[in-house]
Amino acid sequence: DKKELILAFETSCDETSVAVVENGEQILSNVIATQINSHKRFGGVVPEVASRHHIEQITLCLQDALSEAAVTYSDLDAVAVTYGPGLVGALLVGVAAAKAVAFAHDLPLIPVNHMAGHIYAARFVAPLEFPALALLVSGGHTELVYLPEPNRYEIVGETRDDAAGEAFDKVGRVLGLTYPAGKEIDELAHKGRDSFDFPRAMLQEDNYDFSFSGLKSAFINTVHHAQQVGQKLEKCDLAASFQQSVVDVLVTKTVRALHAFPVKQLILAGGVAANQGLRRALENELTHFNEVQLIKAPLFLCGDNAAMIGAAGYVAWKNDVSAGLDLNAEPSLEF
Ligand code: KG4
Ligand code: ZN
Repeated sequence: DKKELILAFETSCDETSVAVVENGEQILSNVIATQINSHKRFGGVVPEVASRHHIEQITLCLQDALSEAAVTYSDLDAVAVTYGPGLVGALLVGVAAAKAVAFAHDLPLIPVNHMAGHIYAARFVAPLEFPALALLVSGGHTELVYLPEPNRYEIVGETRDDAAGEAFDKVGRVLGLTYPAGKEIDELAHKGRDSFDFPRAMLQEDNYDFSFSGLKSAFINTVHHAQQVGQKLEKCDLAASFQQSVVDVLVTKTVRALHAFPVKQLILAGGVAANQGLRRALENELTHFNEVQLIKAPLFLCGDNAAMIGAAGYVAWKNDVSAGLDLNAEPSLEF
C-alpha cells in the first residue's frame, strides 16, 4: 500500500500545532506549542496576543514536525490546514504557512473545518464507521453532529447559548481557578458530591439542543449568596454538582439522538471530551446500545492539535476537497 503523508497546520485558538500524518491514521509527529501561560492572567484568550505567538512559533513547529517525523518536504503528498472556525488573526497564520508550503512544493492544499478535525481525533483509536454520531464539546462549541458518510457533517443539535467548555471556564473563574478551568473542576468534582440542586436545562424539550447559561447563572448566584451571608461552601461539592448537571444534559440529549439516528459509532471529541465524568457516564449509557461502538478521542488528542486536522484533511482530500491559494480564514465557519 502507498504511504501518503499529510502535513497539517492548526492555529485556530491558543495552540500552534504542526503534524505529519500517514494515510490519515498514523501520527508521525504532532508538535504543539501552547500559549496558555500568556493568556492565563487575562482569564481568557486575547486574540492579538494569540496571533503574535502563532507567528513566532509556526516555523519552529514546522521544522520540529518534519524532523520528528524524519521526513523532508519532498516526502509530502498534501498540506491540510484549519481555516475556521476560530480567531481570524490566529487562523490566518496557519493558512498563510500552509499556502506557502503548498505553493513552494507544488502540493494540494486541503481546507479543514476545526470541528471536523476534533471528530477525526477519534480516527487514531479506530477506523470510523458510518453512519456515525459525534458529541463535540469544546470551549467554543457544543454540538451533536450526524455523519451519514465520510466527509458529510450534519448538525442535529447545538447549544443555544454557552458552550460546555465556556461554562466550565466561567464557573472556574467564580471558584478562583485559573483559565482554562475544565480540568481542575473535573479533578475537584472527583472529590465532591452532587449536593447542590443545579438546573438541567431543556431536558423535557423534544430536541437535541443544549443550554448552559442558566446553569452558569444558578452556580454564580449560589456562590455569591453564600459569600453575602458569610457561608462557606465546599468547592469540591460545587464542582461535582456543576459537572453532574453538565454531564446529565450532554448524555440525555446524546441518548435521545442515538434513538432517532441509528448509528454504528458514537464519537466523543473536543476539549471537554477529556472530562472523566462525561467519559464514564457515556460508557455506562452505551451499555444499553449493544450495536453502537463508543469511540472516545484519546486524552492527548482532545485539545487542539494538528494531527486531528491531518486525519480529517486526509478524508477530505480523498473526497476531492481542495483549495486554491486564495484560501481565506473563515472565523465563523460552520459545517
Ligand atoms: O477543544 P479545545 O481545546 O479548544 C476549543 O476549540 O475550544 O477545548 C478547550 C476547552 C476549555 O474550555 C477547557 O476548560 C475544556 O476544554 N476542558 C475540560 C477538560 N479539559 C479541558 N472541560 C471539562 N473537563 C476537562 N477535563
Ligand atoms: Zn478546538
